Amino acid sequence: MRPSFAIVGCGRVGTAFGKHLTDVGYRLSGLSCKTKESVKKAAEKFGIKNFSQTSWEITKDADIVFITTPDGVITQVCDQIAQKKGFGSNSIVLHCSGAHPSTILSSAKQCNASIGSMHPLQSFSAESSGNTFKGIIVSTEGDAAAVNAARKMATDLESTLLTIKTEAKILYHAAAVVASNYLVTVQDLALKLIKEAGVSNEDAFKVLNPLIQGTLSNIENVGAIKALTGPIARGDVETVERHIGKIREKTPNMLDLYKILGRYTVDIAAAGETITREQKEDLKRTLE
Ligand SMILES: NC(=O)c1ccc[n+]([C@@H]2O[C@H](COP(=O)([O-])OP(=O)(O)OC[C@H]3O[C@@H](n4cnc5c(N)ncnc54)[C@H](OP(=O)(O)O)[C@@H]3O)[C@@H](O)[C@H]2O)c1
Repeated sequence: MRPSFAIVGCGRVGTAFGKHLTDVGYRLSGLSCKTKESVKKAAEKFGIKNFSQTSWEITKDADIVFITTPDGVITQVCDQIAQKKGFGSNSIVLHCSGAHPSTILSSAKQCNASIGSMHPLQSFSAESSGNTFKGIIVSTEGDAAAVNAARKMATDLESTLLTIKTEAKILYHAAAVVASNYLVTVQDLALKLIKEAGVSNEDAFKVLNPLIQGTLSNIENVGAIKALTGPIARGDVETVERHIGKIREKTPNMLDLYKILGRYTVDIAAAGETITREQKEDLKRTLE
């Protein structure tokens, strides 16, 4: 038999776990939200009678408790439940924040619970349909019992589990931010430059998209270092100088970012041994 679980914070992620874990045989034993409207709505959705705005009233009997509140109140919510002895002995308490380690749940150990984090690398919206966990990476760290429970749930949800060290969690999160959010930043820079070059708003992304997709595919096939092409990979200092000159003239506020990314790119070219030591130094000087 699958374990029972309670959700404290039935928002986007809490609702997704609620729906998909019940679909694969876990029993939702209780839920809690901050506001009356939310908790009533969630209780109706799941057809459950054990709901409350007072979180420790619905957690005690659950094998697994998800604290899926906003990151800023996870510890406070956990502390309150622990103070009221609201976690069952040998239960598992999990949060789903990507940025925080499991240790922010330490107060649950007073109740002899195991603690862990279980972070789905997915963007959840209120309107998600289908199994939003299918095929995604779920990272976990924490006590052995919590990691084991996360592994079992991830498998049941058709996700791939990645175990990470508790102390490395913040770097893992930084990597995800760079891969997703900073990709947006870099694409925004490219779109502004191409529009400055006269390509219409409508066509800008269409023009760049095959290049973007091709580059992603190359990274997948040969790795980031070997995927690097272009003037820096060729040691073409003159072209880089001309870029800098035009960006300074047309969009000076983008010059710093162009140069910072360029300097990092020079190191990639050097690691791939596509430029000589002199070219590396020339490029670095140009991009200072
Ligand atoms: N959204 C994503 O794409 C995503 C992806 C991966 C991980 N995460 C992580 O998942 C967690 C939840 O994020 P979310 O996006 O699902 O948040 P959300 O949609 O804003 O939902 C938060 C829920 O927590 C409830 N809540 C707030 N304070 C509470 C309290 N003191 N006691 C009980 N419930 C309380 C809210 O209740 P009310 O509705 O009554 O205000 C709401 O139901 C966060 O740790 C986040 O970092 C989110």
